[in-house]
Amino acid sequence: MHFGVKLLGLSIVLWQCTPIDNTERTVLLQPEHFPVVEINDAYPITPDLVDLGKRLFFENILSSDSSISCGTCHKQEFAFADNRNISPGVHGNLGTRNAQALQNLSWAKTFFRDGTIKSLHLVSLAPLDTDFEMNMTHLEMLDRLNKHEAYPKLFQEVFNEPISEKNTVYALVGFMRTLISHQSPYDAFVTGDSSALSDSQLRGLSLFNGKALCSTCHVGINFSDESYHNIGLHEMYPDNGRQRFTFDPNDAGKFKTPNLRNVAVTAPYMHNSQFHSLEEVIEHYNKGGENHPMKDPRVQSLNLSQNEKSDLLNFLKSLTDSSFLTNPSFAP
Ligand code: HEC
Ligand code: HEC
Repeated sequence: MHFGVKLLGLSIVLWQCTPIDNTERTVLLQPEHFPVVEINDAYPITPDLVDLGKRLFFENILSSDSSISCGTCHKQEFAFADNRNISPGVHGNLGTRNAQALQNLSWAKTFFRDGTIKSLHLVSLAPLDTDFEMNMTHLEMLDRLNKHEAYPKLFQEVFNEPISEKNTVYALVGFMRTLISHQSPYDAFVTGDSSALSDSQLRGLSLFNGKALCSTCHVGINFSDESYHNIGLHEMYPDNGRQRFTFDPNDAGKFKTPNLRNVAVTAPYMHNSQFHSLEEVIEHYNKGGENHPMKDPRVQSLNLSQNEKSDLLNFLKSLTDSSFLTNPSFAP
């Protein structure tokens, strides 16, 4: 016994003495049970690029009055969403929509609640110069980064070139690509651990995929069909979503089907934060929503019993990936 402990101690010392080979640090970009995604970023996503991107993500000098960073509105504990209805930008200026979770972005085809943006790079540039977010000009951003004590050297090391708008964005995107949620109880279940879900969660899964019609829109690895639907939130939408972009009246009140991973921690819900609990969301679908000429016919009265509603709720909770919400490599 004593001998064993000694041996163990020795091996720990040896292991600690082994120099860490930086070239062996890897960045997880492809969980085994996710569809293979091709990433063709302009720079290879190395651990150093990701570290730089993380630093920029939490960098206040990227906002005009140096008061907020991306991380102010996208918080890890809420799967990089915000628990505030509308997140204030600089000087407390308000936008109109709830900040989304940032997770598994490499598997999304469009971005923003109305899908107006097709590239993760453009979407990362947008908050910087939006007046109700960070309100920065790109020239001012480059100037501040260049005058900073650490960034010129860091950029040179990572990119082998001076700071530019392009490489700043690629660093931010590289970090965001590592925000992969793939270890929820639901993932354990689909990868073969049949005991990962409770009986109630299993019944909820059947409802989700069956009677409650949820999976007709919330489908795939991110629970999104990457399409746009009006789910009858209002008879008159103050924010017409997709129509603001396409000008097509058939798109009135249509929003992109959101990712449901970690949904139990991303309240408030919907583009306008109109629901504050998953119980309210389930009640909305159960009743079938408000009348609207563009409402999707799948949003209809479901007649779920009290038990069915709680099974569905418990299933949604099985999408919470606590390792994602607490992973220290995503923290500032
Ligand atoms: C003031 C709050 C705020 C700040 C600061 C902010 N965001 Fe956002 N972010 C939002 C809101 C709100 C949305 C949803 C916008 C919409 O759908 O119209 C969003 C959406 C996004 C999306 C799209 C996610 C998806 O699935 O479609 C990405 C990516 C993103 N933000 C990245 C960033 C980055 C990178 C920064 C820093 C450079 C940043 N955000 C700063 C509030 C903010
Ligand atoms: C017709 C397609 C469709 C069906 C069916 C559907 N959803 Fe949705 N769901 C959406 C869309 C689109 C949104 C976003 C609406 C918005 O932001 O205005 C959404 C939003 C949500 C949200 C809020 C997520 C967030 O981050 O704000 C939850 C939770 C949700 N749905 C769960 C369900 C459940 C549970 C079911 C089955 C009872 C279901 N959905 C059925 C399309 C659908």
